[in-house]
Amino acid sequence: MVESDKKKINAQKKQERHFLSINDISKIQFNEILERAESFQVQGTREIKKLPLLRGKTVANLFFEPSTRTRTTFELAAKKLSADVINIDIQTSATRKGESLKDTLRTLESMQTDIFIVRHPESGAAKFIAELVGDHVSVINAGDGRHEHPTQAMVDMFTIRKNKRNFSDLIVSIVGDVNHSRVARSEIHALKLVGVKEIRVVGPKTLIPEQIEKLGVRAFFSLDEGLKDADVIIALRLQRERMQSALLPSEKEYYRCFGLTQERLKLAKKDAIVMHPGPINRGIEIESSVADGTQSVILEQVSNGITVRMAVMAILSALKYQK
Ligand code: CP
Repeated sequence: MVESDKKKINAQKKQERHFLSINDISKIQFNEILERAESFQVQGTREIKKLPLLRGKTVANLFFEPSTRTRTTFELAAKKLSADVINIDIQTSATRKGESLKDTLRTLESMQTDIFIVRHPESGAAKFIAELVGDHVSVINAGDGRHEHPTQAMVDMFTIRKNKRNFSDLIVSIVGDVNHSRVARSEIHALKLVGVKEIRVVGPKTLIPEQIEKLGVRAFFSLDEGLKDADVIIALRLQRERMQSALLPSEKEYYRCFGLTQERLKLAKKDAIVMHPGPINRGIEIESSVADGTQSVILEQVSNGITVRMAVMAILSALKYQK
């Protein structure tokens, strides 16, 4: 085999070992994750809920940004697969004493960590870490800056499939702060991969990236128009922490124009589902009665987070074992 082919195969193997972006996976790998999650969900209804697939492995949660859903569901998922889990509290870790990220990683690697779950405020941080770790380690991107949150997109595709079955007929409206949302970016890639009928992004001009249509979506600057006949509505949180300047007059004004209310929900299809990756801000992006209403699948998204993340870790771990 020529040297350039060897390099290509090694780069491919390296990419498959990690889960950094929805763009890195094929439709076959995507479906494998959903099928595996489905089988874990069935397993969850049986008396013995734990599986030995990650027995003897160590999973480290490395979160440089706050999280409730993602960190906890990764921890539960790893435990259900019999892994040992360590949660690194960045606020009390040696990085606060000036230790470099590289040295923190080397330290954790020497404790035989097999999977790093990484959340970081900088876009590209998970990829950077994946390039630093040894060959036996997998890195899963749990949200990097405004870039991607691939497992959230997988959770959401799993939830949509559970409720709607057929992706190809669906109009999906992603509403709110698309500009700063890693979830929106991963959702768009995933919705294109499954081939929905139409992907819409809806919000004020200041929160919708210029030229977003190049990603194959339709942009709407009026919520009423963007919701019309939608089958799935994904509401997004206003990412105040990522806004460099005043992009909105006020939260009250935002809610008046783009808040998902009961009244506005009537514009979508009768059986439309309402999703939100969380954390939700009631009275800012969504009316409380919509978040808790019969069309909301927000809590279902949270519970699906466990089985989908079990699937991702089990598949990555099996891939490494084959090599
Ligand atoms: N969806 C999501 O990333 O939520 P957390 O910030 O609670 O993990």
